[in-house]
Amino acid sequence: MNVLVTGGCGFIGSNLVHYLRAQRPAQTVVTLDKLTYAGNLENLAALERDKRHIFVRGDVCDRVLVDRVIAENRIEAVLHLAAESHVDRSILGPGVFVQTNVLGTQVLLDACRAAKVQRFVMVSTDEVYGSLGPTGAFIEASPIQPSSPYAASKASADLITLAYGHTFGLDVVVTRCSNNFGRYQFPEKLIPLMIVNALHDKPLPVYGDGGNVRDWLHVEDHCEALLTVLERGRAGEVYNIGGGAERKNIDLVRGLLGLLGKSEELIRFVADRPGHDRRYAIDPSKIRAELGWKPAHTFEQGLAETVRWYVDHPAWWEHIHSGAYQQYYDTQYRVRLDAPAG
Ligand code: NAD
Ligand code: TYD
Repeated sequence: MNVLVTGGCGFIGSNLVHYLRAQRPAQTVVTLDKLTYAGNLENLAALERDKRHIFVRGDVCDRVLVDRVIAENRIEAVLHLAAESHVDRSILGPGVFVQTNVLGTQVLLDACRAAKVQRFVMVSTDEVYGSLGPTGAFIEASPIQPSSPYAASKASADLITLAYGHTFGLDVVVTRCSNNFGRYQFPEKLIPLMIVNALHDKPLPVYGDGGNVRDWLHVEDHCEALLTVLERGRAGEVYNIGGGAERKNIDLVRGLLGLLGKSEELIRFVADRPGHDRRYAIDPSKIRAELGWKPAHTFEQGLAETVRWYVDHPAWWEHIHSGAYQQYYDTQYRVRLDAPAG
């Protein structure tokens, strides 16, 4: 099967491309990626000489290009991960989130319909469900109540995907996963940001009271779930994917400092994110029962390996942590420090 992975130079996408090449060596994988600030071709450097991997730089919103990529490579299935993915950025500027996440998805769906692609997997997020109270977990039938512009754009994309299944008979599957962690994650998200800041002895900005809870999923467990859904998921269905590792942000940050041997004095409680969802938790019973998927990594082991990866690969993140990204980050961070929590 020839598979198109959109967003294959990002965090989850690049892990997925490596995973697919390792697990299904006879299949060809085509990566379509615009290489925004979050896309990094270095993530796929090990595949440079791989004849069964093809990289195309381009925008999922570009219908002519998408048609060409699908036709020239005889694409049979699409795993759609390309997106603007950071909640804080969606608060600063929602426009590009609607453009890429909503319109880009619709362009891909139209192209898949026209080319009679056999399966379209939409990689969505648990954030479409909004926030939980102290108990309970999201099931696939939970109401869609996104809080941030990012989450609203993903909800729109996964609903339009399901609509293409109902209306046009396109074979679509939607996955909604919890927060991923692992190698190649851009250091604007909680775990890599805290690791990189701590390695530089910079303050670690914890939003609000640090009591917000996320349910962590190792990126390789997510990749295995996506391969499972691609091959055996039922058309028109939604599958929740979660690692069953709920942690309060502050406990996670303390754990990272412990692994790095750094002082907790680096922690700074800063102004909260506007509209900050309090708690996410995924009930993955459906994918477990129907498809037999379950996570293979424990959170503690995965976190220790992730920390080790960032410690061992400063060349991967040092240049990100300087230049234009650093400017963006400093601006964001100063704004928060100027308005500390409590
Ligand atoms: P990421 O920001 O690391 O990577 C996104 C990739 O998409 C980048 O390589 C970027 O260059 C590419 N891209 C952006 N706009 C594009 C466009 N218009 N055309 C083509 N390529 C474009 O994101 P990630 O964390 O790897 O997330 C991947 C997907 O998984 C996203 O759809 C995201 O919503 C979803 N997701 C992520 C998480 C998480 O914890 N990271 C959790 C749930 C769902
Ligand atoms: P993030 O990695 O941005 O993922 P998401 O918002 O999609 O869950 O944030 C994870 C949690 O960490 C979230 O509750 C916000 C919090 N957070 C901080 O406290 N400080 C930070 O600098 C960042 C980036 C996030």
